[in-house]
Amino acid sequence: MKRSRAPTSLILAGLLAFILSLAGQTARAAEGEMSKESKACLSCHDKDGMTKTLESGEALSLAISAKAYTESMHKKTDCEDCHSNLDAKTHGKATTAIKSKREFALGMRDSCRDCHKKKATEYDDSVHAALIKAGSKKAPLCTDCHNPHTVRSAKVVGPIAETPCAKCHEAIFKAYSKDVHGLERVAKGISAPLCAGCHQAHAVKAASMGEGVKDACLACHKEAVNQHKDWLPNTALHFEAISCPVCHAPDAQRRVNLRLYDSTAKRQVAEKTGVPKFEKRTDAADSKDMGLDERALWSLLKEFNQDGGDGKMLLRGRLEVRSGVEAHQLSEKSKAIKDCDTCHKQGAAAFQSVTLTIAGPDGRPLRHGVQNEVLNSLTSMDSVRGFYAIGSTRIKLLDYLLILVVLGAASVPLVHMTIKRLFKGVREKLEAERLAAVQDLGKQASTGHRQAADNASK
Ligand code: HEC
Ligand code: HEC
Ligand code: HEC
Ligand code: HEC
Ligand code: HEC
Ligand code: HEC
Ligand code: HEC
Ligand code: HEC
Ligand code: HEC
Repeated sequence: MKRSRAPTSLILAGLLAFILSLAGQTARAAEGEMSKESKACLSCHDKDGMTKTLESGEALSLAISAKAYTESMHKKTDCEDCHSNLDAKTHGKATTAIKSKREFALGMRDSCRDCHKKKATEYDDSVHAALIKAGSKKAPLCTDCHNPHTVRSAKVVGPIAETPCAKCHEAIFKAYSKDVHGLERVAKGISAPLCAGCHQAHAVKAASMGEGVKDACLACHKEAVNQHKDWLPNTALHFEAISCPVCHAPDAQRRVNLRLYDSTAKRQVAEKTGVPKFEKRTDAADSKDMGLDERALWSLLKEFNQDGGDGKMLLRGRLEVRSGVEAHQLSEKSKAIKDCDTCHKQGAAAFQSVTLTIAGPDGRPLRHGVQNEVLNSLTSMDSVRGFYAIGSTRIKLLDYLLILVVLGAASVPLVHMTIKRLFKGVREKLEAERLAAVQDLGKQASTGHRQAADNASK
């Protein structure tokens, strides 16, 4: 008995030694992928607690873990591929002057371009890149979202809190993590979107401008248009005029956003396309600081048009939620707003707050308050054309007209026919704008319609 024990433990010990040596070999094999030069860097830098104090007083950690590096997606990339600007002769011996972490990061920012051209180009077109160009110290560079020394594959699914967006958009992340997508994502993994699923990771655009976010929703929810059609008439127009969270974040406060719109180019007007200073103008027109009234709005639009707008500039309304946090409180479908009266009734809450926007230099919206009465007045018909919700305003004649349009000619009495004829021009204008809106949405409409819309808005 005693005899047989000794060999067993020997075999075990031998096995253990073998396993250990194997482990050592794999570790070396991994390091072996690293060039001599990179190893040399790590001989100094793979040290916990290695730091340097910058002029700003911040401590820059200089410790690079060899283990994490060899497990990263950059394991085959040499330190010098990105750090080509170090002086081999003096490096590590003399101290170099670095102002701040941000200055250092900015100095290194072009190091990703050569190898990741596509992502870099997408990023250049983002609101984040525009903010950095304008001098923002808070907007993200590549390295704010990817640590170059530890970067893992995008396919690795971590906890949602690891999304790089969370640290800067904290309040929104909190709301998102409790909403229908956040909960679904935690419960079932990646089928539900994380921030980049709706906003993109690199070509991030201002959320309330353009149609990017809505297109992202509809790309996943392919049946959504049909599912809404069952109960919501003219779904395309509703989707165009209402941002999805307005109905799907039922507790949110809502507002009307009047977007300055170029009816010829068929896009929102941007401050940088030569339109004179929006803020200066709106401030001047709003002398009492109570929001623009209908006259101010009207003459402002006239001014914008005189400045090269050539009469093609108009306002297009859109219902949206009032804050970024509320846009991320989407509930399950049974709680969504279905009651037409929420919007189509006189004095509806959604129409009590009105804002005017133009795309600012960085693509984000510049806003100015507008008195809610503008939606109710016939004078502003000309400026607020293209946006009109039945019942929610006091322009009664138009209500009749639209109800007529909706009911069709089936049971139209003579009186109504007269009204209809009287307001034919106005109605055609409205219809033309709607057509344009629907066309923009579907992109499949014919050019003939588009021309009709153009002619009508001239
Ligand atoms: C893919 C490009 C890339 C590679 C490869 C790379 N680095 Fe870096 N490194 C950077 C960038 C970019 C920064 C600036 C960090 C920032 O923007 O916050 C940086 C910063 C550093 C810093 C300053 C401390 C810090 O983390 O900001 C050290 C030290 C460093 N790198 C060492 C190394 C060593 C050693 C290697 C090789 C083992 C290496 N780097 C490989 C891109 C790279
Ligand atoms: C002999 C040790 C040593 C070696 C080898 C070494 N470094 Fe350093 N490195 C340092 C020290 C020390 C500092 C801090 C210098 C200071 O205080 O200015 C530093 C600073 C840095 C910084 C911060 C920016 C700066 O200029 O201070 C980077 C980035 C960096 N090293 C990258 C590398 C890379 C990449 C390699 C390999 C090509 C490398 N280091 C090799 C010791 C070393
Ligand atoms: C010398 C070329 C090179 C440079 C410079 C470089 N990378 Fe990479 N990067 C690679 C390679 C190679 C991979 C691995 C790609 C693969 O296997 O799909 C990679 C992978 C990545 C990944 C993970 C991709 C994935 O599949 O999920 C990210 C993120 C990344 N790099 C970011 C950066 C950032 C940020 C910088 C600048 C600090 C940078 N890279 C600079 C070569 C480079
Ligand atoms: C605001 C955060 C953010 C910034 C800034 C950012 N990225 Fe990314 N990046 C992400 C996220 C999130 C992913 C995950 C994949 C996705 O959803 O597209 C990603 C994925 C990647 C990938 C892997 C893509 C793939 O599909 O395999 C690469 C490579 C990459 N980024 C490089 C870069 C480079 C280079 C820059 C700078 C020009 C950069 N990123 C800037 C957030 C960012
Ligand atoms: C399900 C899609 C979806 C997801 C996921 C999502 N968002 Fe949004 N986000 C939206 C919508 C919709 C808006 C509002 C757009 C509008 O006005 O129509 C918005 C607006 C924003 C805004 C602008 C807020 C403002 O003040 O105008 C930011 C910033 C933002 N999101 C960041 C994030 C971040 C960070 C995450 C991840 C934590 C995230 N989003 C996840 C759909 C999404
Ligand atoms: C390093 C900080 C930082 C990171 C990381 C970051 N952002 Fe931002 N982001 C900003 C700043 C600063 C602004 C401009 C201020 C604002 O609008 O909140 C901004 C603006 C935005 C806007 C435009 C807001 C608007 O008015 O519509 C969106 C959308 C956005 N970020 C989405 C994201 C998404 C998605 C991610 C992750 C892929 C992300 N951000 C990661 C700092 C960051
Ligand atoms: C006018 C309010 C309203 C608007 C605007 C709206 N929805 Fe809905 N949505 C609803 C209601 C109400 C339901 C629930 C319908 C039911 O259960 O019969 C719903 C259901 C859904 C469902 C679940 C469908 C199903 O049957 O499983 C999805 C997904 C959805 N909406 C996405 C969207 C998207 C994406 C947008 C924006 C493009 C949007 N919704 C705009 C009110 C709206
Ligand atoms: C990456 C794909 C993806 C994107 C983008 C996306 N969703 Fe979803 N959404 C899901 C998944 C997955 C679920 C949970 C499973 C389900 O109910 O379909 C979900 C659930 C929902 C629900 C709850 C449906 C129910 O049955 O109760 C609503 C409402 C919804 N999404 C609306 C939106 C809106 C609005 C947007 C854009 C602002 C959007 N989604 C963007 C994938 C997506
Ligand atoms: C969240 C607010 C909201 C809800 C809920 C809503 N609508 Fe609307 N609806 C609008 C807005 C805003 C417009 C105006 C769009 C425009 O003129 O640009 C509109 C337009 C219309 C139009 C005119 C379409 C046209 O072709 O001119 C009809 C009809 C209509 N809605 C019917 C309904 C019915 C029926 C319901 C309930 C099943 C409903 N809406 C629910 C906001 C809403």
